[in-house]
Amino acid sequence: MNVGIIGTGNMGKILINALIESHVLLSSDFFITNRTIEKAYAIQRQYPTISVENHISDVIQKADLTFLCVKPLEIYPILDEYSTYFTTNKCLISITSPVSVEQLESVVHCQVARVIPSITNQALSGISLLTFGESCNKKWRGKIEEIFKTISTPVMIEENITRIASDIVSCGPAFMSYLLQRLIKAASVKTPITEEYATKLATGMLVGMGKLLEKEIFTLPTLQEKVCVKGGITGEGIKVLENELGDVFEHLIAATHHKFEEDIEEVQKQFNQQRD
Ligand SMILES: NC(=O)c1ccc[n+]([C@@H]2O[C@H](COP(=O)([O-])OP(=O)(O)OC[C@H]3O[C@@H](n4cnc5c(N)ncnc54)[C@H](OP(=O)(O)O)[C@@H]3O)[C@@H](O)[C@H]2O)c1
Repeated sequence: MNVGIIGTGNMGKILINALIESHVLLSSDFFITNRTIEKAYAIQRQYPTISVENHISDVIQKADLTFLCVKPLEIYPILDEYSTYFTTNKCLISITSPVSVEQLESVVHCQVARVIPSITNQALSGISLLTFGESCNKKWRGKIEEIFKTISTPVMIEENITRIASDIVSCGPAFMSYLLQRLIKAASVKTPITEEYATKLATGMLVGMGKLLEKEIFTLPTLQEKVCVKGGITGEGIKVLENELGDVFEHLIAATHHKFEEDIEEVQKQFNQQRD
């Protein structure tokens, strides 16, 4: 199967790396392009049998399945200009949350899906969030699930939980990294440990914790309970978290959803243009 990638920034590159590393695709299956074309050539230097195309139309024409890995407001202009190249049997996958499959289907006549990946997919791990368009037939649904099973656990989501699911799956690694860095910083400021050494310990802890959860040895609550021995030291730390975290995550969710609404509004203005 020929696979097109339009946009080889962070996510485009991660998808290429992961899909090749998982052996579900060969590097020779890829036809890639980027606005700043040098970024695509840099990937070709890593995988010499990848084809770099100078024109988006060549990527779409050569690919059976095309990933659109650009930012939300960059999607409509591309679809508007190249919609005729997306013929019925081809499949288009967008990877961004503020653009719905219905909006994509309103411009192109091919099969359409949305797959929101996560940086964790680079380690062939974590979740990917799948939403299929009405237009997406059984064959493509199966194919997309099969592909994403090799780099993640694909999960189907409804439109109404798109943002919160993306907050957890895609933004989550950044949020958790931030929290852990705050712990590391406090450790190095308040105690004799160096930041470097605390980072090494914290990273090892996180990897170990991930493995416990992966092996289903514990759930999050049972893991907390097991570490938190009665009358022990962990409990004192948990009390501080309980008392001082406050509504931080409620505020975080409100902030991401507010930005999401703004993005949706901007995106909708673009898609409305076609009706004017
Ligand atoms: N980063 C994540 O963890 C993550 C997770 C899930 C979903 N996403 C979604 O993935 C999308 C991309 O995010 P990103 O982090 O990969 O952003 P990014 O690093 O900015 O990558 C976007 C790429 O698209 C290219 N591009 C823009 N317009 C183009 C055009 N007309 N033709 C060809 N290439 C074009 C840009 O080229 P230039 O080099 O010229 O700028 C850039 O390389 C976003 O919509 C985001 O919501 C990201």
